Amino acid sequence: MKFATKAVRAGIEPDPSTGAIVPPIFQTATYVLDEIGKGKGYDYTRSSNPTRAVLEANLAALEGGKYGVSYASGMSAVDAVARLLAAGDHVISSDDVYGGVSRLYNQILNRFGLQITYVDTSNPENIVEAIRPETKMVWIETPTNPLLKVTDLEIVGQIGREHNLLTAVDSTFATPYLLRPLEYGIDLVVHSTTKYLSGHNQIIGGAVITNREDLYEELKFVQKSVGAVSSPFDCWLTLLGLKTLPLRMQKHSENGMAVARFLESHPKVARVSYPGLPSHPQHAIARRQMKAFSGMISFELKGDVQSGITLMNSVRLCSLAESLGAVETMITHPASMTHASVPKEVREARGLTDSLVRLSVGIEHVDDIIADLEQALARV
Ligand SMILES: Cc1ncc(COP(=O)(O)O)c(C=O)c1O
Repeated sequence: MKFATKAVRAGIEPDPSTGAIVPPIFQTATYVLDEIGKGKGYDYTRSSNPTRAVLEANLAALEGGKYGVSYASGMSAVDAVARLLAAGDHVISSDDVYGGVSRLYNQILNRFGLQITYVDTSNPENIVEAIRPETKMVWIETPTNPLLKVTDLEIVGQIGREHNLLTAVDSTFATPYLLRPLEYGIDLVVHSTTKYLSGHNQIIGGAVITNREDLYEELKFVQKSVGAVSSPFDCWLTLLGLKTLPLRMQKHSENGMAVARFLESHPKVARVSYPGLPSHPQHAIARRQMKAFSGMISFELKGDVQSGITLMNSVRLCSLAESLGAVETMITHPASMTHASVPKEVREARGLTDSLVRLSVGIEHVDDIIADLEQALARV
């Protein structure tokens, strides 16, 4: 099956009792057994639920994986992967990650003995240099939030195999339509399904996909034990969103490219980071491993910090909002919003300045998006 067909069909059968083409929302906590030890495959919704099972099968098919596990948020998916490790284990992570991921590792998981080192994984040599005897996992975000750095997954897969390390990729910005990390031998793919996968700002959710049965069994055990499961209604809404993922990602990418070009040629813009632009330092890798470049852009204006703030306060169509990957264009100030939990000196050292503006280009008509940015830039 081609990707677009999988998005509409994979894991989805007509409901056997009614023929309903859309899988029902099984809004139930428990399931009646026929007798002790004998039921219809479900016993309690924290462990499994038929609507969630359809979503998990669909997500696995889209990533080209065998197993999918769905969570109540992207962060609970990130947390579930960390629970595959034990006290004393060490993780090497991309330095530019979503602020919530570094907050989880630096302020919560450190209390339980997990250690983490952040390196710029767009140069994979930095990963090898950071390996210690207790290193167990490499955590990659590509493209990164918010600087859009790209990491070569072929090399990361090789490093993982050579050094016997788990490899996990947060592929939220790319989605399986644009990038399938499992094809590079990556062990675990992680998503905030809140973003492009559901696509309409309608739910908070997360997922992990893998080909490895041992990891799947462990993830299912963690899911059942911790209970950070997505609700049947959220699963259903996500499934609805996924059906149009290919169409939306094509449009997000097309609009993203046009907006990135517009920004790069604007006299008030100092620099633009978008993997689709030839000026992006990892443009060649992005071209090789991604089908297109998504709708995420970050940029800085000339002048001081106030310039970016004036721009973000002046948009009319674009929404000043935390989040990304939905049909609406959203503009964000990472330093005070998505990455406020990262200490200022750490942010600055990584290039995440107070002037940085992040744009999640939606699927409105691109002329309207550009016209809005143009009028806001005229006020700077
Ligand atoms: C790359 C990335 N990973 C994980 C998350 C966390 O996802 P959620 O907000 O669904 O918990 C986010 C949220 O912005 C993100 O951007």
